[in-house]
Amino acid sequence: MVKVITYGTYDLLHEGHVLLLKRARALGDYLIVGVTAPDFDQRRGKINVKQSLAERMEAVRALGIADEIIVEEYEGQKIDDIRRMGVDIFTVGSDWVGKFDYLNEYCKVVYLPRTEGVSSSQLREERQKLRLGLVGDTPALNKYERESRFVNGVELAGVCTDTIGGLSREMQELPLITKRYDVLLDNVDAVYLRSSPDKHTEQIREALRRKKHVLCESPVSLTAAETAELLELAKQEGCILQESIKTAYCTAFSRLLVLLKSGKIGEVISVDATCTRLNAAVLTGGWTSLCSWGPLALLPIFKILGTDYIHMNAAASVRNGQDVFAKLDFLYDNAVASLKVGTEVKSEGELIISGTKGYVYVPAPWWKMDYFELRYENPKENQRYFYQLDGEGIRHEIVAFVQAVSSGKGAGYIEDGITAAISKVMETVYRALSDVPQQDREVRMISLTA
Ligand code: CTP
Repeated sequence: MVKVITYGTYDLLHEGHVLLLKRARALGDYLIVGVTAPDFDQRRGKINVKQSLAERMEAVRALGIADEIIVEEYEGQKIDDIRRMGVDIFTVGSDWVGKFDYLNEYCKVVYLPRTEGVSSSQLREERQKLRLGLVGDTPALNKYERESRFVNGVELAGVCTDTIGGLSREMQELPLITKRYDVLLDNVDAVYLRSSPDKHTEQIREALRRKKHVLCESPVSLTAAETAELLELAKQEGCILQESIKTAYCTAFSRLLVLLKSGKIGEVISVDATCTRLNAAVLTGGWTSLCSWGPLALLPIFKILGTDYIHMNAAASVRNGQDVFAKLDFLYDNAVASLKVGTEVKSEGELIISGTKGYVYVPAPWWKMDYFELRYENPKENQRYFYQLDGEGIRHEIVAFVQAVSSGKGAGYIEDGITAAISKVMETVYRALSDVPQQDREVRMISLTA
C-alpha cells in the first residue's frame, strides 16, 4: 500500500484545494491530510485564517477524499509523521517547489501543479472589508495603521485628529484626514479610539448610536455607570464595543492563563504587576499614570483573581492634580494583588504571580509578553515558555475585532465584567484624587473601600 501525505490550512475550502487533494490521492492508495492548527499558522505568520480548526477539518472530511485527517501543530512534525506513519510520498502544491526537498531523505517528495487564479487569501480579501477609522492625537495611532495592514478584511478609511503633523507618511496618505468626528463616522463601519479618556464616553455613544463598531483604548470610560451604559447601548444597537489592551491578545498571555488554570503553580495567592515609563508627554490629554498604565496592570489581576475583590487601597503621587505614580492594593478572599504605575517614577516592569507550588515570572516589559518562566523551590523544575509576538499584540487585537464584528459575537479576550471593573477602579481613585489641591506635588495616601 502506497501511503501519501499532504498538509495545508484549507481555509474557506476552494477548488484549488479539491484538485490538489484528488491528485494527491491518485498518487497512492491511502491519503493522510494534515490540517494546520491556529498556533502553528500564527507562528508562520498566517494570522488571518477565518475558519476554526474544527471547521476546516470538517470541510476536508466532507470531501470524502482523505482516508485520515491529522492536525499539524509544530515545526518539524512532518518528519515525525512520515516516520511514525510509514509514509511513502509527501506531496504539496507547486507554490512550494524546493521548500520540502529536505524530506527526500525520508520519503519521495512530489510537487503537484497548483490551480491558478484561486487562493484562500484571495477569498478572504474579497469578503467585504471593514472600513476602520482611527481617532486620537497620539503617535500611537501610527502603530495601529501599520499593524492593520497585516490584517485581511480591514481597510483604513481615515483618521480624525487635531495633530495632523504627528501622523506618519502612510497615515497622511489615508483617503480621509479630518478634525471632525462626525465626518469620520460618515465614512467608516468602525472606529479605533485613542482619544483622551474623558472624551471616550461621548465618542463611543455617538458611534454606537450610528451603528458603528468601536475598539476603544482602555479605559472605556472613567465611571462604572457610563461603561455599563455603553456596554448596554452596544448590545441594543447590535454593535461590538471592544476594549483595547494589547497584552490581552498576546499568545503568551493566553497560554499563561491556561497554565495557571491547570494548577501549574498551585493556588494563586498574589499577583503583582508594575508598569512605568518616564515620559512627560504621556500626561497630555488626560493620559495620567493610572489611565495610561492602570488598565494594563489590572488586566492580569482581574483575569486571574476575578473582579470580586473585597477591598482596595490606593496611594498616589500627584502633581498639578494629575497622578504621576500610583500604587493600588487589592484584597480578595484568598489572595492579594498589587500594581504600581508611573509616568514620573521608574521601576522594574515585571509581572509576578505567586502560588502555593511555585511562581510565574514575566520579565520587563511584561506587557509585550513573548516569554515567561514557571519557577519552583527546586530550580531544576523551572520551565521556560516562548511564543511568537507580532506587533505587540496589536495585530491580533485587530484580527479579533474584525472577527467579532463579522460573527456579531464579542471577541472574549476582555470580558464585559473586566471592562466595567477597570472603569470602577478609575472612578474610585479619581474621585479621591479630585480632593487634592491642583498645585500640590505630594504623596497622598488614600484609603478606599471598593
Ligand atoms: N493549493 C493549490 N492550488 C491553489 C491553492 C492551494 O494546489 N490555488 C494547494 C497548496 O499548494 C497546498 C494546499 O492546496 O498544497 C493547501 O494550501 P493552503 O495554504 O491551505 O491554500 P491557499 O489557498 O494557498 O491558502 P493561502 O492563500 O492562505 O496561502
